[in-house]
Amino acid sequence: MISLPSPARAPGALPLLGHALPVLRDPFAFLASLPAFGDLVEIRIGPTRAVVVCDPELTRRVLQDDRTFDKSAGLLYSALREIGGDGLVTCPHDQHRLRRRVIQPAFGRERVVVYASVMNRHVDGVADGWKDRQKLDVVEQMSKIAADATADTLLSGLRPALTRRTTADLATLLELFPRRVLLPSAWRMLPTADNLRYRAARSRIRQTFGAVIAERRADHRAHDDLLSMLIESRDAERSGSSLNDTDVCDEAVALFFAAVENTSAALAWTFHLLAQHPTVERRLHAEVDSVLSGARPSADHLARLDTVRRVVKEALRLYPPTWLVGRVAVADTELGGHGITKGTNLFYSPYLIHRRADIYDFPESFDPDRWETERGPTPSFIPFGVGPRRCVAEQFALTLTMLAVAAIASRWRLESLPGCQPRRRMGVALQPGGLHMRAVTRRGA
Ligand code: HEM
Repeated sequence: MISLPSPARAPGALPLLGHALPVLRDPFAFLASLPAFGDLVEIRIGPTRAVVVCDPELTRRVLQDDRTFDKSAGLLYSALREIGGDGLVTCPHDQHRLRRRVIQPAFGRERVVVYASVMNRHVDGVADGWKDRQKLDVVEQMSKIAADATADTLLSGLRPALTRRTTADLATLLELFPRRVLLPSAWRMLPTADNLRYRAARSRIRQTFGAVIAERRADHRAHDDLLSMLIESRDAERSGSSLNDTDVCDEAVALFFAAVENTSAALAWTFHLLAQHPTVERRLHAEVDSVLSGARPSADHLARLDTVRRVVKEALRLYPPTWLVGRVAVADTELGGHGITKGTNLFYSPYLIHRRADIYDFPESFDPDRWETERGPTPSFIPFGVGPRRCVAEQFALTLTMLAVAAIASRWRLESLPGCQPRRRMGVALQPGGLHMRAVTRRGA
């Protein structure tokens, strides 16, 4: 172990700051520059060292071995834990299998088929409110679809509580999140205006979820949703007691965040890319018109919406919402011939892997037809992660995204506005910052 070489160091680190400036300035360009230095590249954010895994095979090795490369600590998780506690997204390996067993059944294939009609209702609920030629804040509209559909399928009872206040609080947490990851932890404790705003938003959101959970505990009627599964779960390994209210609240908040942030990003980028590629957009419209023949899309239609599938997949390749994810080595270990010491922060990035020119031809181009056959280069396509911590809601997310794209495209074109170029916004998810588009009714639709 001692004789193994350390990973290569990324050049350009400044004293005290390390690589914080290029990361804050353009994290995407910085990430994309790293594979030139090696399969594993060490960077520094202030005093903290981290290793970025640039090779797809080594990424898989890290993700498959969640005992050695855990989520127990690290830059990202301490900030994420402030929002969702020790829920499934953030919990360490020793709690993970148990929590996943409780939650997984809510995302089984048969259940997702049942959710499809509820999802449709919420896509219509949002799109029916649009007027011809109305300018839309696309992320806001897609977040509303994702929030309403998630609340109604998984956390019923929450939807009426999703007031404007909760949505605004969610936006505050997401806006301030990157700074909480990058700036020193002592800074988070200071009573700055941003820190106070962050704390107030977080505690209001937890109060809202807490009230819904208390109501559900008091209500003895049967509810067939994830919230009930969480409340009723008997945790044999914890001496027969059920998850307490804080555990349930952690899970519900974290799931809700993961759902809204990621799905809205996937939808918003998809519509942006379609508007930028009119030939693909026309093909998608023709497919939707012919497969749906005026009906609302259902889970049965999805298998025949091949262009929709390819377009969504290509949007997830170019703009994977979960673009950077962390792990911590909990023991000294070897990776790709390098020594990794206990306590090292590691990051993997679907964004970085999806844009490697040695894996994808013309990686910067939007080309849905690269997914013509399912035999595409899938081992290096990792928008939902890999291994035991792979997204528990992949089917749910793909179903919601494809249904929403098909349902909206059957009646609307979302047109780019002149001069509106969204920027890649670094948040919990990779969002298209500032994306406004015009909703135009499709003639004859
Ligand atoms: C397009 C949408 C989505 C994308 C791209 C996405 C992506 C991901 C990725 C990459 C991971 C693995 C992170 C890691 O390796 O640590 C993950 C985990 C997770 N996602 Fe998603 N996600 C999406 C939608 C959702 C939705 C809709 C939900 C909930 C309803 C959700 C809940 C979760 C949870 C709970 C985990 C943690 C799983 C575990 O550790 O066992 N995600 N997601």
